[in-house]
Amino acid sequence: MKVDVLLGLQWGDEGKGKVVDVLTPRYDVVARFQGGPNAGHTLEFEGQKYVLRSIPSGIFQGDKVNIIGNGVVLDPSLFKAEAEALEASGHPLKERLHISKKAHLILPTHRVLDAAYEAAKGDAKVGTTGKGIGPTYTDKVSRNGLRVGDILHNFEEKYAAAKARHEQILKSLNYEYDITETERQWLEGIDYLRQFQLVDSEHEINRLLKAGKSVLCEGAQGTLLDVDFGSYPFVTSSNTICAGACSGLGLGPNKIGEVYGIMKAYCTRVGAGPFPTELFDETGKTLRDLGHEYGAVTGRERRCGWVDLVALRYAIMLNGVTQLILMKSDVLDGFDTIKACVAYKVNGEEIDYFPFDITEGVEPVYAELPGWKTDMTGVTSEDEFPEEFNAYISFLEEQLETPIKIVSVGPDRAQTIERYVD
Ligand code: GDP
Ligand code: IMO
Ligand code: MG
Repeated sequence: MKVDVLLGLQWGDEGKGKVVDVLTPRYDVVARFQGGPNAGHTLEFEGQKYVLRSIPSGIFQGDKVNIIGNGVVLDPSLFKAEAEALEASGHPLKERLHISKKAHLILPTHRVLDAAYEAAKGDAKVGTTGKGIGPTYTDKVSRNGLRVGDILHNFEEKYAAAKARHEQILKSLNYEYDITETERQWLEGIDYLRQFQLVDSEHEINRLLKAGKSVLCEGAQGTLLDVDFGSYPFVTSSNTICAGACSGLGLGPNKIGEVYGIMKAYCTRVGAGPFPTELFDETGKTLRDLGHEYGAVTGRERRCGWVDLVALRYAIMLNGVTQLILMKSDVLDGFDTIKACVAYKVNGEEIDYFPFDITEGVEPVYAELPGWKTDMTGVTSEDEFPEEFNAYISFLEEQLETPIKIVSVGPDRAQTIERYVD
C-alpha cells in the first residue's frame, strides 16, 4: 500500500485539519510527521468545533490508528491538556494514539529560549508562536535533545542536565524568567505521557503498510514556512514539505502515493516576513473579517492577500503535488472581481519563478477574474457551481497544471465538494 500525504502549500492555516478529517474514513492510519503545538488544526462537525495542535486530525473518525511520528516535537503539558479535552468531549484516544519514542520533547526552558531569542532579535523577530519549536529542533540537530523514549529510563537525570544547559544560555542572555508553574505542569505531562503507547513508529508504520493498511500523513504549517525552501529566516524550524513525511515517519520515498496540496482561494500569513500579495487596504480587511482570519493557536490577526500562483507553482514543484484542494472559496462569494498573482516584477523584469529573496522589490502582476456573486456555502455538488466559479477553477488548474479535486465552501465537514468523481 502507498502512503498519501496532505500538506499546506502556503503559509499555513490552509484548512488541513478539516480535510484530513474529511478524508480519514478512506484510510486506516493518520500520522503527523513534523511540527508541534505551533500548529492549530480546526475541525467542525455536528455543530462542534475542535482545534488540534499535536494530535492527528484522524482522531474523530472511527477506530483509526493515529500516529505522532519521530519528526514531531511534543510538549507534554500541552499534549495532556489537548488529550484530556478530547477525552472529556467523548473522544477517548489512549487506545488509538501511538507516539514515536524518537519524537523530541519541548522543555519548559525551550519555550523561554524561544521568547529570549525573539526578544534579542528586536525588530527582526520572526513572530513565532512562542511554543519553543525553534529551540527544540535546534537541540535535536545539535544532538542535545531529549526524546519521548527518554522518559522511560533515568529521566530525572537527563532532564536536569538539559535544563542546566538551557539555564546557562539564558543567563548569558540576561533573560529573566520563572518556570515554577510551567515546570510543575510539564512534569505532570511527562507522567501522563507514560500512560500512552510509546512506540518505534517507523517499524509500526512500515508493518502496517506491509499488512495492506493505508496511511494518510498530515502536514503542519505550510510549504512557504519550510526551513529550507520557505521565506527564510521567517520560517518554522522543520521540513514542512513532502520529503518531511519520509524523514518524519521513517518512510522510503517510493512509498509516497498521492500528494494532496491544500490552498486557500486567497492567501494568509501569521507572524513576520515577506508576503508579496499582502493587501493593506479594505479588501485585506474584508478577507480577514469574512474568513475569520485569526490564529487558531495564538488568536493573532492573520495578514491577508490575493492568491499567489508563483508561490503555489513553486510549492507544487517542491512537494510533487498530484491533486489540489481549494479551500475557503466561499470567502470570495461577494467579490465583484478576484485577483490572482501570475508573475512577479523584479527590477522592472517579469519573472514567473519564486526567487531567492522576496523581501523587497517584488511587485505582483495580477490577472483579474469576474466574481461569482453567489452564496456557495450551501452548495452540495459541482453541478451547482456558478459559471464564473467554474471559470475561476479552470483558470487555477491551467495556471497550476494540477487538477483541483476537492473544493471546500465552509468550515463544516459537510461543506466539501468532490470533483472528477467517476
Ligand atoms: P489548518 O491549520 O491548515 O488546519 O487551518 P486552520 O484550522 O488554522 O485555519 C483554517 C480555518 O478556516 C479554520 O477556522 C476552519 O474552520 C476554517 N475553514 C476551513 N475550510 C473552510 C472553508 O472552506 N470556508 C470557510 N469559510 N472556512 C473554512
Ligand atoms: P498550521 O499547522 C500558520 C508561523 C509563525 C511564525 C513562524 C515560526 O496551523 O498551519 P514557530 O513557532 O513555528 O517557530 O513560528 O511560523 N507558524 C504558523 N503559521 N500556521 C501554522 O501552523 C504555523 N506554525 C508556525 O506564525 O511566523
Ligand atoms: Mg492552523
